[in-house]
Amino acid sequence: MNFRSGYRAIWVVMTTVVVVVGLFTARAGGGQAADPLKGKPLASGYALGTKTRDGLGKYYFGREIAHYMSHVGAPWLERPERDQEERPDLVMKALNLQPGQVVADIGCGTGYFSWRFAEAVGPKGKVFGVEIQPEMLELLAKAMAARGVTNVVGVVGTPEDPKLPEPVDLAIFIDVYHECSHPAEMIEALCRSLKPNGRIVFIEYRGEDPAVPIKPLHKMTEEQVKREMAAQPLDYVETVKTLPRQHLIIFRKRG
Ligand SMILES: C[S@@+](CC[C@H](N)C(=O)[O-])C[C@H]1O[C@@H](n2cnc3c(N)ncnc32)[C@H](O)[C@@H]1O
Repeated sequence: MNFRSGYRAIWVVMTTVVVVVGLFTARAGGGQAADPLKGKPLASGYALGTKTRDGLGKYYFGREIAHYMSHVGAPWLERPERDQEERPDLVMKALNLQPGQVVADIGCGTGYFSWRFAEAVGPKGKVFGVEIQPEMLELLAKAMAARGVTNVVGVVGTPEDPKLPEPVDLAIFIDVYHECSHPAEMIEALCRSLKPNGRIVFIEYRGEDPAVPIKPLHKMTEEQVKREMAAQPLDYVETVKTLPRQHLIIFRKRG
C-alpha cells in the first residue's frame, strides 16, 4: 500500500464511522448536530438544567429542548415506511390548503412535505422551505428539481428567526418544534410574519403514548404544546387526532 492509497483507506474508514455513528445516535434515525447554544446568553423564559443524552440542557416550560437532527440522517426522512407511519394524505386533508396560499414549512428537511404543500397551493401559491442547515436546503433543491416543483423557495433561517421574505397563511412545524433551540423567539417572529387569521400548526409524535417508538425528547404532549403557545398571541383552534402516531395541533393568529 503506497502513501496515497493508505491515506485514502484511513479517510474512507473515518468517514464511514462518522456516518454510522451519526445514523444511530438520534431517535429512529439522524444524528445530532453541533451545540446551537454555544456562546449564546440564556434569554428569559428559559432555564438551564440537567442535560440528557438527546437534549440541550435548556428547558422551556419544564421541557428539555431536544438536539436538532443532523443532515447526516436525512435518508430517514425519506424512508419508504414513512407514508404509512405518518399518513401525509391525512395531514393534507386536515390542513385544507387553498390555491394561491403561502406556506412556511419550518424545518423542511428534504422536503418530504414541501412538494405536497406546493401542489396544494398551485402555481399562484408558494412554499418557503426554511432550514437552519444549508445542507438540508441543498437536498430540498435537488428533490424539488427531480419532481419538477418550481414554487418551493429555500430560506436559510436562524434558530431565533425564520427570516420569511413575505407574510404567510400557514407556518407548519412537522417533527421540528421540539428541537427548536429558541422556541419563544421563533414563534414570536412567526406571529409577526403571519397574515391576519394565519395559522401555526404543529405535528409532533404523541408524547402521551408510550407505544409510539420515538425517543421521549422527540415527542410532545398536546398539553405541553398548548402550555407553550399560551404565552403567544395565538388562539387554539383544534387538535386533529386521525394520524397513526402524531397529533396535529392548530393555532390561529389572535386579532
Ligand atoms: C426531524 S427533521 C424534520 C424535517 C421535515 N419537517 C420532515 O418532516 O421531513 C427536523 C428539521 O428541523 C430543522 N430545524 C431545527 N430547528 C430549526 C429552526 N429553529 N429553524 C429551522 N429549521 C430547524 C433541522 O435542521 C431538521 O432538518
